[in-house]
Amino acid sequence: MQKMITLGEFIVQKQADFPEATGDLTGLLSAIRLAAKVVNREVNKAGLADITGAVGEQNIQGEEQQKLDVYANEKFKAALEARGEVCGMASEEEEDYVVFDSEVNNNAKYVVLTDPLDGSSNIDVNVSIGTIFSIYKRVSPRGTPVTLEDFLQPGNQQVAAGYVIYGSSTVLVYSTGHGVHGFTYDPSLGVFALSHENICTPEDGLIYSINEGNYIKFPDGVKMYIKYCQAEDEATQRPFTARYIGSLVADFHRNLMKGGIYLYPSTMKNPNGKLRLLYECNPIAYLVEQAGGRASDGYQRILDIKPTELHQRTPFFVGSTNMVKTVEDLIKEFG
Ligand code: AHG
Ligand code: MN
Ligand code: MN
Ligand code: MN
Repeated sequence: MQKMITLGEFIVQKQADFPEATGDLTGLLSAIRLAAKVVNREVNKAGLADITGAVGEQNIQGEEQQKLDVYANEKFKAALEARGEVCGMASEEEEDYVVFDSEVNNNAKYVVLTDPLDGSSNIDVNVSIGTIFSIYKRVSPRGTPVTLEDFLQPGNQQVAAGYVIYGSSTVLVYSTGHGVHGFTYDPSLGVFALSHENICTPEDGLIYSINEGNYIKFPDGVKMYIKYCQAEDEATQRPFTARYIGSLVADFHRNLMKGGIYLYPSTMKNPNGKLRLLYECNPIAYLVEQAGGRASDGYQRILDIKPTELHQRTPFFVGSTNMVKTVEDLIKEFG
Protein backbone atom coordinates (compact mmCIF):
# COMPACT_ATOMS: atom_id res chain seq x y z
CA MET A 1 0.00 0.00 0.00
CA GLN A 2 1.27 3.44 -0.91
CA LYS A 3 2.17 5.59 2.08
CA MET A 4 -0.52 8.16 2.82
CA ILE A 5 0.46 11.61 4.07
CA THR A 6 -2.40 13.52 5.65
CA LEU A 7 -2.75 17.30 5.58
CA GLY A 8 -2.12 17.37 9.33
CA GLU A 9 1.13 15.37 9.00
CA PHE A 10 2.26 17.45 6.04
CA ILE A 11 1.74 20.75 7.85
CA VAL A 12 3.69 19.51 10.88
CA GLN A 13 6.51 18.24 8.59
CA LYS A 14 6.67 21.64 6.88
CA GLN A 15 6.70 23.46 10.19
CA ALA A 16 9.83 21.53 11.17
CA ASP A 17 11.59 23.31 8.25
CA PHE A 18 11.14 26.62 10.11
CA PRO A 19 12.72 26.53 13.55
CA GLU A 20 11.31 29.97 14.35
CA ALA A 21 7.71 28.82 13.77
CA THR A 22 5.53 28.83 16.86
CA GLY A 23 2.82 26.50 15.58
CA ASP A 24 0.15 29.19 15.39
CA LEU A 25 -0.19 28.97 11.62
CA THR A 26 -0.33 25.18 11.90
CA GLY A 27 -3.21 25.53 14.36
CA LEU A 28 -4.94 28.03 12.11
CA LEU A 29 -4.72 25.70 9.10
CA SER A 30 -6.18 22.92 11.25
CA ALA A 31 -9.17 25.16 11.99
CA ILE A 32 -9.67 25.73 8.27
CA ARG A 33 -9.36 22.00 7.60
CA LEU A 34 -12.07 21.27 10.18
CA ALA A 35 -14.46 23.90 8.81
CA ALA A 36 -13.86 22.56 5.29
CA LYS A 37 -14.89 19.07 6.44
CA VAL A 38 -18.08 20.42 8.03
CA VAL A 39 -19.02 22.43 4.92
CA ASN A 40 -18.13 19.47 2.70
CA ARG A 41 -20.56 17.27 4.67
CA GLU A 42 -23.39 19.75 4.12
CA VAL A 43 -22.56 20.33 0.46
CA ASN A 44 -22.68 16.60 -0.17
CA LYS A 45 -26.24 16.27 1.07
CA ALA A 46 -27.44 19.61 -0.23
CA GLY A 47 -30.30 18.10 -2.20
CA LEU A 48 -31.59 16.10 0.79
CA ALA A 49 -31.32 18.50 3.68
CA ASP A 50 -33.25 21.76 3.53
CA ILE A 51 -30.17 23.80 2.73
CA THR A 52 -30.57 24.74 -0.90
CA GLY A 53 -32.18 27.97 -2.02
CA ALA A 54 -32.07 31.56 -0.86
CA VAL A 55 -32.23 32.92 2.67
CA GLY A 56 -34.31 35.89 1.56
CA GLU A 57 -31.66 38.51 2.38
CA GLN A 58 -29.02 40.36 0.43
CA ASN A 59 -25.36 40.57 1.39
CA ILE A 60 -23.31 43.76 1.26
CA GLN A 61 -22.59 43.11 -2.44
CA GLY A 62 -26.29 43.32 -3.25
CA GLU A 63 -26.35 39.58 -3.99
CA GLU A 64 -29.08 37.31 -2.77
CA GLN A 65 -27.59 35.16 0.00
CA GLN A 66 -27.99 31.42 -0.37
CA LYS A 67 -28.46 29.21 2.68
CA LEU A 68 -25.09 27.60 2.10
CA ASP A 69 -23.39 31.03 1.88
CA VAL A 70 -24.62 31.75 5.38
CA TYR A 71 -23.93 28.25 6.69
CA ALA A 72 -20.35 28.18 5.38
CA ASN A 73 -19.71 31.66 6.76
CA GLU A 74 -20.93 30.67 10.23
CA LYS A 75 -18.87 27.45 10.25
CA PHE A 76 -15.65 29.16 9.21
CA LYS A 77 -16.22 31.99 11.67
CA ALA A 78 -16.85 29.58 14.56
CA ALA A 79 -13.84 27.39 13.70
CA LEU A 80 -11.49 30.36 13.41
CA GLU A 81 -12.65 31.99 16.62
CA ALA A 82 -12.55 28.79 18.66
CA ARG A 83 -8.85 28.04 18.30
CA GLY A 84 -7.52 31.41 19.39
CA GLU A 85 -4.90 31.88 16.66
CA VAL A 86 -6.97 34.48 14.82
CA CYS A 87 -7.88 37.97 16.06
CA GLY A 88 -10.45 38.75 13.37
CA MET A 89 -12.03 37.76 10.10
CA ALA A 90 -13.41 39.49 7.02
CA SER A 91 -15.85 37.74 4.73
CA GLU A 92 -17.88 38.26 1.60
CA GLU A 93 -20.96 37.60 3.72
CA GLU A 94 -20.16 40.12 6.49
CA GLU A 95 -20.59 43.85 5.89
CA ASP A 96 -17.82 44.79 8.33
CA TYR A 97 -14.84 42.83 9.60
CA VAL A 98 -15.49 40.60 12.60
CA VAL A 99 -13.53 41.20 15.81
CA PHE A 100 -12.85 38.06 17.86
CA ASP A 101 -12.87 40.05 21.06
CA SER A 102 -11.53 37.77 23.81
CA GLU A 103 -8.22 38.01 25.63
CA VAL A 104 -6.83 34.99 23.77
CA ASN A 105 -8.00 36.18 20.35
CA ASN A 106 -6.84 39.75 20.91
CA ASN A 107 -3.41 38.31 21.56
CA ALA A 108 -3.44 36.35 18.31
CA LYS A 109 -1.29 37.48 15.39
CA TYR A 110 -3.31 36.40 12.35
CA VAL A 111 -6.31 37.68 10.41
CA VAL A 112 -8.24 35.62 7.88
CA LEU A 113 -10.22 36.84 4.88
CA THR A 114 -12.60 34.47 3.22
CA ASP A 115 -15.11 33.82 0.49
CA PRO A 116 -16.83 31.05 2.45
CA LEU A 117 -18.88 29.77 -0.48
CA ASP A 118 -17.72 30.58 -3.98
CA GLY A 119 -19.98 29.85 -6.92
CA SER A 120 -23.27 30.33 -5.07
CA SER A 121 -25.28 30.21 -8.28
CA ASN A 122 -24.13 26.60 -8.78
CA ILE A 123 -25.24 25.19 -5.41
CA ASP A 124 -28.75 24.15 -6.39
CA VAL A 125 -27.71 22.47 -9.64
CA ASN A 126 -24.97 20.21 -8.31
CA VAL A 127 -22.07 21.99 -9.97
CA SER A 128 -18.69 22.48 -8.25
CA ILE A 129 -18.40 25.20 -5.62
CA GLY A 130 -15.59 26.23 -3.30
CA THR A 131 -14.19 28.15 -0.35
CA ILE A 132 -11.30 30.63 -0.59
CA PHE A 133 -9.10 31.87 2.27
CA SER A 134 -6.30 34.36 2.74
CA ILE A 135 -4.11 34.80 5.84
CA TYR A 136 -2.08 37.82 7.02
CA LYS A 137 -0.15 38.82 10.11
CA ARG A 138 -1.90 41.73 11.78
CA VAL A 139 -0.20 45.15 11.70
CA SER A 140 -1.88 46.48 14.85
CA PRO A 141 -0.31 45.60 18.21
CA ARG A 142 -1.09 42.24 19.79
CA GLY A 143 -3.26 42.43 22.86
CA THR A 144 -5.65 44.93 21.26
CA PRO A 145 -8.76 44.32 19.14
CA VAL A 146 -8.13 43.88 15.42
CA THR A 147 -8.47 47.01 13.20
CA LEU A 148 -9.47 47.72 9.59
CA GLU A 149 -5.79 48.30 8.69
CA ASP A 150 -5.06 44.67 9.52
CA PHE A 151 -7.31 43.65 6.63
CA LEU A 152 -6.37 46.32 4.09
CA GLN A 153 -2.88 44.96 3.39
CA PRO A 154 -1.68 44.36 -0.16
CA GLY A 155 -1.78 40.71 -1.26
CA ASN A 156 2.01 40.54 -1.33
CA GLN A 157 1.88 40.48 2.48
CA GLN A 158 -0.11 37.23 2.64
CA VAL A 159 1.51 34.51 4.74
CA ALA A 160 -0.73 31.78 3.39
CA ALA A 161 -3.71 31.29 1.10
CA GLY A 162 -5.75 28.47 -0.30
CA TYR A 163 -9.07 27.12 -1.42
CA VAL A 164 -11.26 24.09 -1.09
CA ILE A 165 -13.07 22.78 -4.15
CA TYR A 166 -16.18 20.70 -3.51
CA GLY A 167 -16.12 18.93 -6.85
CA SER A 168 -16.22 15.36 -8.12
CA SER A 169 -13.92 14.95 -5.16
CA THR A 170 -13.15 17.52 -2.47
CA VAL A 171 -9.66 18.96 -2.71
CA LEU A 172 -7.90 21.46 -0.46
CA VAL A 173 -5.08 23.44 -2.09
CA TYR A 174 -2.87 25.79 -0.09
CA SER A 175 0.46 27.54 0.02
CA THR A 176 2.48 29.16 2.77
CA GLY A 177 4.91 30.64 0.26
CA HIS A 178 6.85 27.42 -0.32
CA GLY A 179 5.05 25.84 -3.24
CA VAL A 180 1.42 24.89 -3.75
CA HIS A 181 0.11 21.59 -2.43
CA GLY A 182 -3.19 19.77 -2.93
CA PHE A 183 -4.94 17.25 -0.69
CA THR A 184 -7.89 15.08 -1.69
CA TYR A 185 -10.52 14.30 0.92
CA ASP A 186 -11.14 10.65 1.70
CA PRO A 187 -14.63 10.65 3.25
CA SER A 188 -14.32 7.07 4.52
CA LEU A 189 -11.32 8.03 6.66
CA GLY A 190 -12.26 11.67 7.24
CA VAL A 191 -8.81 12.88 6.17
CA PHE A 192 -7.32 15.09 3.48
CA ALA A 193 -4.51 13.04 1.88
CA LEU A 194 -1.63 14.55 -0.08
CA SER A 195 -2.43 14.06 -3.77
CA HIS A 196 -0.73 16.98 -5.57
CA GLU A 197 2.65 17.98 -4.17
CA ASN A 198 4.33 21.09 -5.58
CA ILE A 199 1.79 22.04 -8.21
CA CYS A 200 3.34 23.92 -11.15
CA THR A 201 1.10 25.48 -13.77
CA PRO A 202 2.12 25.38 -17.46
CA GLU A 203 3.51 28.64 -18.90
CA ASP A 204 1.21 28.28 -21.89
CA GLY A 205 -2.27 26.83 -21.83
CA LEU A 206 -4.99 25.89 -24.29
CA ILE A 207 -8.07 26.87 -22.25
CA TYR A 208 -9.71 30.28 -21.83
CA SER A 209 -12.46 30.90 -19.27
CA ILE A 210 -14.69 33.96 -19.40
CA ASN A 211 -18.39 34.76 -19.25
CA GLU A 212 -18.59 35.47 -22.96
CA GLY A 213 -22.26 36.40 -22.70
CA ASN A 214 -20.99 39.82 -21.59
CA TYR A 215 -18.82 40.20 -24.72
CA ILE A 216 -20.51 43.36 -25.92
CA LYS A 217 -19.63 45.11 -22.64
CA PHE A 218 -15.93 44.19 -22.55
CA PRO A 219 -13.05 46.62 -23.18
CA ASP A 220 -11.56 46.46 -26.70
CA GLY A 221 -8.34 44.75 -25.56
CA VAL A 222 -10.33 41.90 -24.00
CA LYS A 223 -12.55 41.56 -27.08
CA MET A 224 -9.40 41.26 -29.16
CA TYR A 225 -7.96 38.64 -26.84
CA ILE A 226 -11.12 36.54 -27.19
CA LYS A 227 -10.82 36.78 -30.98
CA TYR A 228 -7.14 35.81 -30.66
CA CYS A 229 -8.14 32.68 -28.65
CA GLN A 230 -10.62 31.75 -31.36
CA ALA A 231 -8.33 32.34 -34.36
CA GLU A 232 -6.72 29.40 -36.13
CA ASP A 233 -2.95 29.05 -35.73
CA GLU A 234 -1.07 25.79 -35.82
CA ALA A 235 2.06 26.95 -34.02
CA THR A 236 0.15 28.02 -30.89
CA GLN A 237 -2.48 25.26 -31.20
CA ARG A 238 -5.32 27.73 -31.61
CA PRO A 239 -8.28 27.92 -31.52
CA PHE A 240 -8.18 27.38 -27.76
CA THR A 241 -10.88 25.55 -25.84
CA ALA A 242 -13.52 27.60 -23.97
CA ARG A 243 -14.44 26.34 -20.48
CA TYR A 244 -16.51 28.36 -17.99
CA ILE A 245 -18.15 26.89 -14.90
CA GLY A 246 -19.09 30.13 -13.16
CA SER A 247 -17.32 29.17 -9.91
CA LEU A 248 -13.98 30.94 -9.77
CA VAL A 249 -12.47 28.17 -7.62
CA ALA A 250 -13.46 25.44 -10.05
CA ASP A 251 -12.46 27.37 -13.18
CA PHE A 252 -9.15 28.33 -11.59
CA HIS A 253 -8.40 24.83 -10.30
CA ARG A 254 -8.86 23.29 -13.74
CA ASN A 255 -6.71 25.93 -15.41
CA LEU A 256 -4.04 25.64 -12.70
CA MET A 257 -3.72 21.92 -13.35
CA LYS A 258 -4.00 21.99 -17.15
CA GLY A 259 -2.82 25.47 -18.14
CA GLY A 260 -5.21 28.21 -19.13
CA ILE A 261 -6.47 31.69 -18.37
CA TYR A 262 -9.45 32.94 -16.36
CA LEU A 263 -10.73 36.43 -17.17
CA TYR A 264 -13.24 38.64 -15.34
CA PRO A 265 -12.77 42.05 -16.97
CA SER A 266 -14.24 45.44 -16.28
CA THR A 267 -17.39 46.33 -18.15
CA MET A 268 -18.88 49.70 -18.98
CA LYS A 269 -21.40 49.18 -16.18
CA ASN A 270 -18.90 47.73 -13.67
CA PRO A 271 -15.54 49.43 -14.28
CA ASN A 272 -13.97 47.32 -11.52
CA GLY A 273 -15.37 44.02 -12.71
CA LYS A 274 -17.16 41.69 -10.30
CA LEU A 275 -14.61 39.78 -8.28
CA ARG A 276 -13.51 40.97 -4.86
CA LEU A 277 -9.83 41.80 -4.40
CA LEU A 278 -9.34 40.80 -0.78
CA TYR A 279 -10.92 37.38 -0.51
CA GLU A 280 -11.18 36.18 -4.12
CA CYS A 281 -8.41 37.69 -6.27
CA ASN A 282 -5.55 38.06 -3.76
CA PRO A 283 -5.53 34.46 -2.49
CA ILE A 284 -5.89 33.07 -6.02
CA ALA A 285 -3.14 35.43 -7.25
CA TYR A 286 -0.84 34.29 -4.43
CA LEU A 287 -1.41 30.65 -5.34
CA VAL A 288 -0.92 31.14 -9.06
CA GLU A 289 2.37 32.97 -8.54
CA GLN A 290 3.54 30.23 -6.20
CA ALA A 291 2.72 27.76 -8.98
CA GLY A 292 4.66 29.80 -11.57
CA GLY A 293 1.71 31.64 -13.13
CA ARG A 294 0.61 35.27 -13.27
CA ALA A 295 -2.27 37.44 -11.99
CA SER A 296 -3.04 40.96 -13.12
CA ASP A 297 -5.80 43.57 -13.26
CA GLY A 298 -4.75 44.25 -16.85
CA TYR A 299 -2.26 46.95 -15.88
CA GLN A 300 -0.55 45.80 -12.69
CA ARG A 301 0.18 42.81 -10.51
CA ILE A 302 -2.86 41.97 -8.35
CA LEU A 303 -0.66 41.37 -5.29
CA ASP A 304 0.73 44.93 -5.42
CA ILE A 305 -2.65 46.70 -5.25
CA LYS A 306 -3.04 48.63 -1.99
CA PRO A 307 -6.65 48.04 -0.92
CA THR A 308 -8.81 50.86 0.38
CA GLU A 309 -12.04 48.96 1.10
CA LEU A 310 -12.95 45.52 2.40
CA HIS A 311 -15.27 44.65 -0.47
CA GLN A 312 -13.28 46.35 -3.21
CA ARG A 313 -13.58 44.81 -6.67
CA THR A 314 -11.01 44.49 -9.43
CA PRO A 315 -10.78 43.22 -12.99
CA PHE A 316 -8.97 39.88 -12.87
CA PHE A 317 -6.79 38.00 -15.35
CA VAL A 318 -5.12 34.91 -13.92
CA GLY A 319 -3.42 31.75 -15.09
CA SER A 320 -0.61 30.67 -17.39
CA THR A 321 2.01 33.41 -17.56
CA ASN A 322 2.21 33.83 -21.32
CA MET A 323 -1.57 33.94 -21.74
CA VAL A 324 -1.92 36.63 -19.07
CA LYS A 325 0.92 38.62 -20.66
CA THR A 326 -0.80 38.50 -24.04
CA VAL A 327 -4.06 39.93 -22.71
CA GLU A 328 -2.14 42.58 -20.72
CA ASP A 329 -0.38 43.68 -23.92
CA LEU A 330 -3.69 44.00 -25.77
CA ILE A 331 -5.30 45.94 -22.89
CA LYS A 332 -2.35 48.32 -22.75
CA GLU A 333 -2.56 48.93 -26.49
CA PHE A 334 -6.32 49.02 -27.06
CA GLY A 335 -7.80 49.65 -23.60
P1 AHG B 1 -19.69 34.18 -5.21
O1 AHG B 1 -20.55 32.99 -5.47
O2 AHG B 1 -18.71 33.95 -4.08
O3 AHG B 1 -20.46 35.47 -5.03
O4 AHG B 1 -18.70 34.37 -6.44
C1 AHG B 1 -19.24 34.34 -7.73
C2 AHG B 1 -18.18 34.75 -8.69
C3 AHG B 1 -17.20 33.67 -9.11
O5 AHG B 1 -17.22 32.49 -8.41
C4 AHG B 1 -17.55 33.38 -10.53
O6 AHG B 1 -16.42 33.10 -11.26
C5 AHG B 1 -18.26 34.60 -10.98
O7 AHG B 1 -18.85 35.15 -9.86
C6 AHG B 1 -19.29 34.28 -12.01
O8 AHG B 1 -19.89 35.47 -12.41
P2 AHG B 1 -20.81 35.55 -13.71
O9 AHG B 1 -22.05 34.79 -13.35
O10 AHG B 1 -21.02 37.02 -13.89
O11 AHG B 1 -20.05 34.94 -14.85
MN1 MN C 1 -21.70 35.97 -3.49
MN1 MN D 1 -16.77 34.08 -4.98
MN1 MN E 1 -19.13 33.63 -2.07
